Amino acid sequence: MNAIELLKADHEKVRGLLSQLTDTTKRAEKTRTQLLEQIRMELDVHTQIEEEIFYPAFKEAVGESDDEATVFEALEEHRAAGELVLPDLLATDVTSDRFSGRAKVLKELVEHHADEEEKEMFKTARQVLGREQLDELGAQMAARKKELMEMGPDRIELLKKQRGQVGSEQAPPRQSLQ
Ligand SMILES: [Fe+2]
Ligand SMILES: [Fe+2]
Repeated sequence: MNAIELLKADHEKVRGLLSQLTDTTKRAEKTRTQLLEQIRMELDVHTQIEEEIFYPAFKEAVGESDDEATVFEALEEHRAAGELVLPDLLATDVTSDRFSGRAKVLKELVEHHADEEEKEMFKTARQVLGREQLDELGAQMAARKKELMEMGPDRIELLKKQRGQVGSEQAPPRQSLQ
């Protein structure tokens, strides 16, 4: 599988899982808990391989152009989904009405993000990255994905935190905004 096929297959899987989740009612406590755990794993691993492997390669290939801006937008969407909405959902009682609302917001956010990647970033990637490089990136991501899946949620959480710290270092200090 090349890089784009791999990432698109991930998107399909997560879209399916999120649809299943939003189709459940608050009576489906066990199903909701299981689906949520699966979604968390899929999303975290997917985000990690994109940020570690695919985005840097894409950024390098497009240089400083409008396409570079799509990377920054995508990173912010990762942050919104992975560091705000998903943790909120994980902390919400699965038998509550609030859970349904939050699950729906996560689904909409992920769908919007995945659609945009597919329509914009991957389209450009096909042009700027050669077939050989796409194959190579695909193999790299498949190997890293396997590694991450075996790590389990706690260690992945740690990686996520490290990524978040890098992000906040780049942000202006809060005081300067006041
Ligand atoms: Fe993404
Ligand atoms: Fe993606």
